[in-house]
Amino acid sequence: MREPMILIDHPLVQHKVALLRDVNTSTKEFKEVVSELAMMMCYEATRDLTTEEAEVQTPLATAKARVLSGRKLAFVPILRAGLGMVDGMLAMVPAARVGHIGLYRDPETLEPVEYYCKLPSDISERDVILLDPMLATGGSACDAVSLLRKRGAKNIKFIGIIAAPEGLARLRSEWPDVQIYLAALDERLNDHGYIMPGLGDAGDRIFGTK
Ligand code: PRP
Ligand code: URA
Repeated sequence: MREPMILIDHPLVQHKVALLRDVNTSTKEFKEVVSELAMMMCYEATRDLTTEEAEVQTPLATAKARVLSGRKLAFVPILRAGLGMVDGMLAMVPAARVGHIGLYRDPETLEPVEYYCKLPSDISERDVILLDPMLATGGSACDAVSLLRKRGAKNIKFIGIIAAPEGLARLRSEWPDVQIYLAALDERLNDHGYIMPGLGDAGDRIFGTK
């Protein structure tokens, strides 16, 4: 049985989440740490990749080794903040293809508004890892999964850095087949839909806007 949600409590992951939360962390460092976290979380989220036996010639002899086999991967960041996770993911799996889903939250209704979607043409044949550092109300992640499903994606995982209980509950209830990887589960949402204590606006902190 697959765990519906995996909270990654590795000390390095926790340390880096603390750096992201810190209001004094610069844009440059924030972006670097998001990428490093993505790299570490990718390691966990790809634990179930299949391998096959291969022979490799070392400088000394022939070695039996194991190499990746089976289904191919697609990484799909939700714009903008998910973009900050792509390089870290690709550092681990350079052969993965990258799709993009553009969504922003309407500041009044908090409902996601779609403005872009470009996915690999063979998305239905790939295992998809959806990327967004923040799972707040869960609206953006649920819409992104819906877009992916409509285009034929079957096996979808979600990697987020911080979630609110509300967003986690919504994603689990609307899309129970999506396995969720998180580095932190926070206390609640505030009246503006921000995760508390959270880290503020992830997109603004990655791209230095605001
Ligand atoms: C943020 C974040 C998520 C979304 C989460 O993006 O990166 O995509 O909010 O909130 P939700 O779970 O309530 O949908 P935002 O809408 O601020 O857009 P941006 O990344 O373009 O700034
Ligand atoms: N989006 C963010 O970037 N931060 C939050 O706390 C909630 C949504």
